[in-house]
Amino acid sequence: MAEVLTELVYSSRTPEPMTDAQVQALLEHAREKNTREGVTGLLCYDGKSFLQIIEGESGTILELFHLIRNDPRHTDIEILHDGEVAHRAFDSWKMAYEGVPTGMLPSLARSIARASLTAAMAGKTEMEISAGRRIFDLFMDELYSEDPRQLADA
Ligand SMILES: Cc1cc2nc3c(=O)[nH]c(=O)nc-3n(C[C@H](O)[C@H](O)[C@H](O)COP(=O)(O)O)c2cc1C
Repeated sequence: MAEVLTELVYSSRTPEPMTDAQVQALLEHAREKNTREGVTGLLCYDGKSFLQIIEGESGTILELFHLIRNDPRHTDIEILHDGEVAHRAFDSWKMAYEGVPTGMLPSLARSIARASLTAAMAGKTEMEISAGRRIFDLFMDELYSEDPRQLADA
């Protein structure tokens, strides 16, 4: 049976700012496990909030998100988009990471949630342009115009 690919995007907050070392430890474990489980995506952190997209086989994403949402390192988890996709947007990244300036994530989160709602109201299971692709394009445009290779995580 063909694999059903899902992308899930959520935002959350950290009770206290996480140190670089804490973020690195989180990423190290996540990347090692994502490699095993066929999960790809991007994690952004601005010192207060996370925005993460995880992509993979539907059942795997469901199980992983259950763990992530119960992880005490963050709170106020809000699902911004959850849907099937034909292709991964981050297929080379076991979990790319970007520290971003404060203020960027809330507007990005709102725009993803709005696009997701619009697609749902139109009765579509897939967004015309996947949330992952939107985020990928935005990051490439805004942050990596000079050297897209900076995004590589391994
Ligand atoms: C913001 C955030 C993002 C996370 N992203 C991932 C991830 O992409 N992959 C992953 O396996 N765990 C991720 N985790 C960790 C999970 O919550 C959980 O601790 C981990 O999957 C458990 O791994 P284990 O099954 O080896 O014990 C994340 C946690 C936080 C707080």
